[in-house]
Amino acid sequence: MDEERIVSAKIKGEEIQYEGSLRPQQLAHFIGQERLKDKLGIYIKAAQDRSEPLDHVLLHGPPGLGKTTLAFIISREMGVNIRITSGPAVERPGDLATLLTGLAPGDILFIDEIHRLQRSVEEILYPALEDFALDIIIGKGPAARTLRLDIAPFTLIGATTRAGLISSPLRDRFGIVERIEFYDAEALGEIITRSASLLGVEVEAVGATKLALASRGTPRIANRLLKRVRDYAQVRAKGVITSDVANMALEILDVDPIGLDRTDYLLLETIIHKFAGGPVGLETLAAAINEEANTIEEVYEPYLMKIGFLKRTARGRVATERVYEHLKIERGGVYRQQSADF
Ligand SMILES: Nc1ncnc2c1ncn2[C@@H]1O[C@H](COP(=O)(O)OP(=O)(O)O)[C@@H](O)[C@H]1O
Ligand SMILES: [Mg+2]
Repeated sequence: MDEERIVSAKIKGEEIQYEGSLRPQQLAHFIGQERLKDKLGIYIKAAQDRSEPLDHVLLHGPPGLGKTTLAFIISREMGVNIRITSGPAVERPGDLATLLTGLAPGDILFIDEIHRLQRSVEEILYPALEDFALDIIIGKGPAARTLRLDIAPFTLIGATTRAGLISSPLRDRFGIVERIEFYDAEALGEIITRSASLLGVEVEAVGATKLALASRGTPRIANRLLKRVRDYAQVRAKGVITSDVANMALEILDVDPIGLDRTDYLLLETIIHKFAGGPVGLETLAAAINEEANTIEEVYEPYLMKIGFLKRTARGRVATERVYEHLKIERGGVYRQQSADF
């Protein structure tokens, strides 16, 4: 279901190519995340001055915020190669050992969705991260012995949408752990303007702001909306994305001015109408809207919580007063009393 959403933060197959072309290549072109950029810039410079590889980096945060982009930027700024894989793609410990022994000094290994590494694979990583070594077991039973193999000093960059699912021994081996935050409308407006010029489409400032506000704090969604809106601009407004074009396109795409789509409405209305505004447990809610609990947690909730529409409590999810205002739903007396503590 999430696959079809225009405002899904997850990447869709056909986007891989154009995303690459819109990806900033240098830290200076990476918009927003000022604190993170400052810090990374310093770490990179310091490592270069010492002629050492960068410390291992863990980037976490919701999908579509620039984790992969940053990994590429770091490799470029460091002037080293980057090898890319993902947690689920590394099936056996041997697969990881092959990747590690193939690295040249200073190279970057990027593991996306690192929380999905199997434990047996993860264990290979510990000595690799700490001592740049692989412990290989030769033989079986009482005759088995461990052989230590040196590998080139390298940098691991791990990315995850679920930092909480990373085991603490793995997490502790990252010298740099950084969270990527949702972007504000101003930064998204800049990203849209930059992407528009790369795509060769004109966008008026008000049009860019409209799109920015509907992008759920997420550059990937901003770029996707831009691509779709461009078609309307071409057919209806001589190729210029005006405020009217942006409005019209969002309406046709079924995305409201703050980026909520039908699924968000379904989720919020279900909490309000079926569960008296909450609290409702995640699994119950998932069953009620016929969506996977995982998807709700990873894709829908972070933004709804960020804009203060949803709260996670010990007893479940609760819709806040803002939802009633936004959806223009009158609260019944009973609901009002129940939510008095918010
Ligand atoms: N700070 C940024 N400035 C400009 N574009 C960005 C920025 N962050 C992300 N993007 C754009 O959003 C797209 C998705 O980013 P990506 O790095 O793939 O996200 P993630 O790996 O966190 O899911 C990229 O193709 C890139 O064009
Ligand atoms: Mg990514």
